[in-house]
Amino acid sequence: MNEDILLELNNLTVSLRQDKEMIPVVSGINMSISRRKIVGLVGESGCGKSMTAKSINHILPSIARVTDGRILWHEDNGSVTDLAALSEKDIRRRCGTDIAMVFQEPMSSLNPMMCIGNQIKEVLMIHKLERDPVKARQKVIQMLADVGIPEPELRYRSFPHELSGGMRQRIMIAMAMIGSPKLLIADEPTTALDVSIESQILRLIRKMCDTYSMSALIITHNMGVVSALCDYVYVMYLGTIMEQAPVGELFKNPLHPYTKGLLSSIPKIEGNPEFLSTIPGTIPMKRTTFKGCEFCLRCSDDIKKCFFEKAGLKKVNADHYVRCHVV
Ligand SMILES: Nc1ncnc2c1ncn2[C@@H]1O[C@H](COP(=O)(O)OP(=O)(O)OP(=O)(O)O)[C@@H](O)[C@H]1O
Ligand SMILES: [Mg+2]
Repeated sequence: MNEDILLELNNLTVSLRQDKEMIPVVSGINMSISRRKIVGLVGESGCGKSMTAKSINHILPSIARVTDGRILWHEDNGSVTDLAALSEKDIRRRCGTDIAMVFQEPMSSLNPMMCIGNQIKEVLMIHKLERDPVKARQKVIQMLADVGIPEPELRYRSFPHELSGGMRQRIMIAMAMIGSPKLLIADEPTTALDVSIESQILRLIRKMCDTYSMSALIITHNMGVVSALCDYVYVMYLGTIMEQAPVGELFKNPLHPYTKGLLSSIPKIEGNPEFLSTIPGTIPMKRTTFKGCEFCLRCSDDIKKCFFEKAGLKKVNADHYVRCHVV
């Protein structure tokens, strides 16, 4: 066993109830996040990224359920806990202190009626991390300063609507960090921000991971975010991991036609401004009966076998795996 692993998803399957049938939207994925590493999960809209993340801390929508697999948390004492098997009470206890989450749109996660300082302080009080309200307030002010909020003592009393989008996302990061979690899950943390604020927020997440020796799972559809922030990346298509590799290796040597499509969709300054490369077609509906590769209907490299048989995950290089018959 690798001692440095913090979280492992083991054959994780998440299904949605539809007409009395359970349709898998995440199909038996394996993933591991090492301590102090930033892992990216990338894929188009609807491919199952958020379902994967929400299954970790039990916040799936009511029609979704983990139907198979395990979510293994490696404790500091060497024991392993299956988070999927924990009761709601036990998982709540871990949220904020072991695992914290930052979402795409901070306005929908913040309480508009409460000043931001007290919202962050609540995390300390609820988890009994600080019982003294004066010390708790000091810790919040320090955290606001750490995430780059100017005049943190003054800002403590601000309400969410008084802050810019970038500042609100910093507040969400402060709220996530105040319980010193071991894992930060950030679901599209910069999608709602403009590019200059995006790069500031990405730098902040990197700094927080380094300062607090924290791991992170970054969910995004943006390969630029992956290259700027992550150490390792999983490429997901229709609930299946198609390719996984260290980030440098993936960008240098992408092998799956879907990964190549995602990378060639990044606009290039020197390219022809009138021609933006795209992946043809759209994500189809998940079909439980389909035996072939999920991507074959959009793939230009497909062979006959792709329609009838799913490919296994093949090791092609150190830590680089791909699921494709053609590679
Ligand atoms: N509350 C819900 N009710 C019904 N279906 C849902 C619900 N949430 C997600 N789904 C479906 O589950 C599948 C996976 O959704 P998920 O939210 O994980 O995608 P995603 O990769 O996070 O996409 P995005 O990049 O748009 O956030 C999609 O087909 C989506 O339509
Ligand atoms: Mg999502």
